[in-house]
Amino acid sequence: MDGKKEQFYMPPPKLDKWESIRLFLYNSETGQVLGRTGSSWAKILLFYVIFYIVLACFFGGMLAVFYQTLDTTQPKWQLERSLIGNNPGLGFRPMPPASNVESTLIWYKAKDEGNYRHWARALDNFLQAYNKTGIGAANQENRVHCDYGKPAPPGKVCDVMIGEWNPCTKSNFYNYQNSAPCIFLKLNKIFGWIPAYYNDTSKLPQDMPNDLKNHIASMKQQNRDTVWVSCEGENPADVENIGPIQYIPRRGFPGFYFPFQNTPGYLSPLVAVFFEKPKFGVLINIECKAWAHNIIHDRVERRGSVHFELMLD
Ligand SMILES: *[C@@H]1O[C@H](CO)[C@@H](O)[C@H](O)[C@H]1NC(C)=O
Ligand SMILES: *[C@@H]1O[C@H](CO)[C@@H](O)[C@H](O)[C@H]1NC(C)=O
Repeated sequence: MDGKKEQFYMPPPKLDKWESIRLFLYNSETGQVLGRTGSSWAKILLFYVIFYIVLACFFGGMLAVFYQTLDTTQPKWQLERSLIGNNPGLGFRPMPPASNVESTLIWYKAKDEGNYRHWARALDNFLQAYNKTGIGAANQENRVHCDYGKPAPPGKVCDVMIGEWNPCTKSNFYNYQNSAPCIFLKLNKIFGWIPAYYNDTSKLPQDMPNDLKNHIASMKQQNRDTVWVSCEGENPADVENIGPIQYIPRRGFPGFYFPFQNTPGYLSPLVAVFFEKPKFGVLINIECKAWAHNIIHDRVERRGSVHFELMLD
């Protein structure tokens, strides 16, 4: 009786692979696209549109709240509350090539023009910010000539006249070709930091080099409001090899450059350390320190002092 009904098994029509993919992409019979009907796609789309709008609003709201807490002219966390702290580091230029970040060796052959020009170029780049034309010219109108007892008026900053620092000038290749190079020192900027000067000769620290003590004593009282600088050979042999040193334009960072308050055009003060006659062919370890009551020297953390080596061939 039921034999007739079950006599044939009809296999589904065999679609070839491409045909079934085509049907999945768009099935004209059912109107399905990618296996779904148009209205169910519309619902999914609507869901995501609303979802992302809500997400964007939430993000924007949080960003707005965050920006409320910011001030673009000064850091939120300052001095001892900040990560960089209130103990400025000392840096030197030119730096050895960036390919060797660990290196602090300034080594060149004074007879080899390409060799010393490399270091002079590095200094050119660093000093561009101080140039009256080109990159350094931005906000130049803010820079005025300062002196002790004649600080910059509010809203202005003190100029750094590197062009007058003979022999440490660009046109003289910073004297590298004469085997008597200039190395520039810079105190790292810390917003709002005011140095506590060693301006009282009866309150100089024990470990301050004697020649610096004498130098401070020889200065007029007014000119003592300075963050002093000393450079020395690290070991007895280095002390012998380092030779005489000049500090140009003066032996420290004058007080009228402080505090740094992010005034447009601000230039960090520099000291050019001019090594007049370093010994040839030996490596000389040099340590420079900045001196103020509120600068602590810490060799390991590289605070308040800087170490480098000099070698002339
Ligand atoms: C200042 O910059 C100009 C070009 O930007 C350059 O020609 C000139 O040598 C620079 N002067 C100094 C002193 O660096
Ligand atoms: C010495 O420096 C301090 C600031 O560090 C200043 O308050 C004081 O007036 C200076 N003393 C003299 C005599 O200039």
